[in-house]
Amino acid sequence: MSKFIVKPGNCLKGSVELQGAKNSALKLMAACVLAKGNFDLYDVPNITDVEIMSDLLMSMGISVTSKSSGHLLISTPENITPYAPYELVEKMRASVVVLGPLLATQGKARVSLPGGDDFGHRPIDIHIRALSELGAEFQTSHGYIEAYCDRLVGKRIVLDFPSHTATDNVLMASVLAKGETVIENAAREPEIQDLADFLIKMGAKIEGAGTSRIVVEGVDSLRPAAHNVIKDRVEAATFIAAVGLTGGEVDICGAKQEYMDMLLEKVSQMGLEVHATDKGIKVISQGKLKSVDVATLPYPGVATDYKPLIVTMLSVADGAAIVSENLFAGRFRYVDELRRMGADIRTQGHHALIRGVAKLSGAQVRASDIRAGAALVVAGLAADSVTTVFGGEHIDRGYEHFAQKLSSVGADVEREND
Ligand code: EPU
Repeated sequence: MSKFIVKPGNCLKGSVELQGAKNSALKLMAACVLAKGNFDLYDVPNITDVEIMSDLLMSMGISVTSKSSGHLLISTPENITPYAPYELVEKMRASVVVLGPLLATQGKARVSLPGGDDFGHRPIDIHIRALSELGAEFQTSHGYIEAYCDRLVGKRIVLDFPSHTATDNVLMASVLAKGETVIENAAREPEIQDLADFLIKMGAKIEGAGTSRIVVEGVDSLRPAAHNVIKDRVEAATFIAAVGLTGGEVDICGAKQEYMDMLLEKVSQMGLEVHATDKGIKVISQGKLKSVDVATLPYPGVATDYKPLIVTMLSVADGAAIVSENLFAGRFRYVDELRRMGADIRTQGHHALIRGVAKLSGAQVRASDIRAGAALVVAGLAADSVTTVFGGEHIDRGYEHFAQKLSSVGADVEREND
């Protein structure tokens, strides 16, 4: 258990180097199931979710060694145990991305069914339907999905929704399938492209990753590879929000403008100056923020992961705004905590009406998930007195050295173990 103690006051100034993207690193680690031998992953963030994925791979018989900062050596043996136990999947639902690679290489998998979480109901029906179309058979018993197949067979699959992890799963399953797989309505996130780039280095034949139509020509076998994880655009958004709330200017090194276009458009409308530099992007405060309406959408829309940060900025912006959540209906839990800090927010269904207040007030609050926790910490930077964010372990799941990084650009944030 940990907490973050945030003292308000300073404008932020300086530069930060982004960590590798959590939502890419976890999938790259799962992809190591697909070939025997030694893989080198660089820029892997030092976060709890990576530890959980390491535990999961190790429980299957795969060796995961941390060589130096950000470098994981993953050694996959000939025989692995195709089993993802409840204890690990329950800690991190992204564990479900081992399903596709296990089916592709082992022809069977027993994976605990992920339950609901702090965003509410999060089914995996799209994963199961798509993998079934490639020839896998599923049954559910005692809280586990059990899946079997002979060699998967490529097919044209139309996803009901461009689910990020369902696209990961189908992509990793199809690279070793017989013949051609076409994934229509695929998720288009940059992290999917990163996974495809890694799979291509391993010998996979993939075209179109990063678009809504991915074409995979199955191969008979893959080989290990080395890869640098792309940078974390949600961490970039977190520093943008921090500057919006405190003032100042920060260089966010490694950020790619083209991966964050919609968000950058919104924060520009809110009054922040953001421009590309040769190192990444620079964000400069222009004073008080202005309210704008925001709706979350699948990539390239404004990501749901940015939303708690946006709502926090809007809490102290001039005017009123409506924020609509179109991905996870239950993703407004942190709003109660922001209200405890004096924010004027009303929610109805998947909409929030936010009327900007002059100042937030420091309070004791609790993080309910990774992004909500980060948003509460940056909210604390703009409060009138100290804020303590409990449930810091949620933040640790996705942010490496969060307190140190914020402090390195002038914030006063400390992480303490409870
Ligand atoms: N959905 C279904 N059935 C499915 C899969 C998804 O109905 O089989 C629905 C979900 O319930 C949701 C929508 O589709 O309403 C989108 O979910 P998606 O599957 O795209 O989300 P995810 O793959 O489970 C990833 C990220 C999340 C991020 C979402 C949306 C990882 C490990 N997680 O989740 O990241 O919020 O995409 O972009 O890649 C985070 O980093 O904190 C985080 C939660």
